[in-house]
Amino acid sequence: MNEPHDLTSAATLRAEFAAALDDGQRSKWAAAFATVPRELFVPRFHQQDDKGQWFALSDGDPGYLETVYSDIALTTQLDEHGIPTSSSSEPRLMLAMLDALGAEPGDRLYELGLGTGYNAALISSVLGDDSVVSVDVDPGLVLLAQGRLAAAGYRPFVLAGNGTEGVPERAPYDRIIATAGLRRVPPALLSQARVGTVIVAPIGYGIARVVVSGDGEASGRFLSMPAFFMRRRGPALNPDFPGVETAVGETTAVPVSDVIDRLRFPLSLALPGYNSCSWRDATGRVTGVGLWTEDGSTATAHATGTVRQIGPERLWDTVEHLASVFRDGTPAHEDFGLTITPDGQRFWYGDPKGPCWPAPTD
Ligand SMILES: C[S@@+](CC[C@H](N)C(=O)[O-])C[C@H]1O[C@@H](n2cnc3c(N)ncnc32)[C@H](O)[C@@H]1O
Repeated sequence: MNEPHDLTSAATLRAEFAAALDDGQRSKWAAAFATVPRELFVPRFHQQDDKGQWFALSDGDPGYLETVYSDIALTTQLDEHGIPTSSSSEPRLMLAMLDALGAEPGDRLYELGLGTGYNAALISSVLGDDSVVSVDVDPGLVLLAQGRLAAAGYRPFVLAGNGTEGVPERAPYDRIIATAGLRRVPPALLSQARVGTVIVAPIGYGIARVVVSGDGEASGRFLSMPAFFMRRRGPALNPDFPGVETAVGETTAVPVSDVIDRLRFPLSLALPGYNSCSWRDATGRVTGVGLWTEDGSTATAHATGTVRQIGPERLWDTVEHLASVFRDGTPAHEDFGLTITPDGQRFWYGDPKGPCWPAPTD
């Protein structure tokens, strides 16, 4: 068995890490990163080598503490297929989300996605235990996180369950944060907010920040930083590549690399929950992309300009539409927004009257 880490080294690394995250901003949330020992929440995690193979790093292993105190997401759980199901997110992204949330002592806060408990500990260190409620869908993770939170001296209210349903008994919340990828703001969470509640949630490849303005009403913009969070869990799904090969080829003038590059974020709003993959040649040039969604729709496009699509939704048509809206350059995340009314939720570009895309209703 490994010797556990040296406490003095951990404290030194933690102080340097928090100072680097803060970058002179003096954020109270950066001070929380200097207070809470991240290593208590990630005694073991998984990393990928340059061939994509997972290996575990545990407390006491060479490089363990340095990795804990670097600005990277740490994968803490893999499913039987080697797909990550829980992680401690990149600290700089966590800090940006906490700053955007702007919670103050006295605020009551709800977190969807307890995971390791590290974020709940950071929040508890500023708001106090009684103000924090955090839910994870995985009961095993909740048990582990609860023990680690207690060992670190924090006792927020934690619960196993579907976080999209909230915890109405403890509502209303002044701040709501999701740390699992969503397709829209869950209506149950809106109903557990009050006027003025700030909600920060990863949606597609961005982080939405909306302020509640009335019953079932909220609006705001996306943060400027790109992000991708593991999605709220659902059934696995595979692309129908054999099926799509039987479709008649069409032509496109849109460069295939746009899908994984400049149109990636708008596509994640226009095609919520879509999946993609790409093929590259020996030089690394993208030679093709595949897109698929959970209704079975699949599309492939090749650098030759040939597109094939099958299923209820013509996915490449959405790519063509976005390429016609965003003709040049990469649209900035913060130019996109989200408006929520009792009738539905929609993403927009520029301003609420600009081009818009409906959020899914489930
Ligand atoms: C990126 S991790 C959360 C990181 C966490 N905040 C931390 O500090 O370690 C995402 C978590 O969301 C959880 N999750 C996924 N879908 C969920 C759902 N519907 N309700 C609650 N938790 C969910 C996963 O089990 C996973 O632990």
